[in-house]
Amino acid sequence: MRSRNDLVDLAREAAQNAYAPYSRFRVGAAVLGSDGLTYTGANVENAAYPSSSCAEANAIAAAVSAGVRKVDAVAVACIDAPSPDDAYPCGRCRQIMAEFAVDEVYVTAGPGSLVKSHTLDELLPYRFKL
Ligand code: THU
Repeated sequence: MRSRNDLVDLAREAAQNAYAPYSRFRVGAAVLGSDGLTYTGANVENAAYPSSSCAEANAIAAAVSAGVRKVDAVAVACIDAPSPDDAYPCGRCRQIMAEFAVDEVYVTAGPGSLVKSHTLDELLPYRFKL
């Protein structure tokens, strides 16, 4: 099992591969699957803006595509954000985290920035379920 800092480092590394020519806001995410493995993703933008995808969604899609159905933790690094307070996951990504029963979410900005830890219950209370 990797530590919180390892997951955060992987997220910051993944952000280097972000394709964000429109927003210039690079995001990386690293997820720890219940299989004990880590999966990463970065945001991938598109000239048709709504066709863009978020780092967390891409990292979770990589894990799920490898057979994971439960994600223990997600680290998100918005390396161009001035502080972690400007780096929180969007609502859609929170709902995607809920689908795969994420417990912990670590939020940070660039290297050296603080890491904020939350439960998904804190970030998305009273969420939609079927
Ligand atoms: N973005 C993410 O990757 N994750 C989020 O949770 C929020 C926003 C991306 C989408 C877009 O490429 C850029 O950040 C600016 O919105």
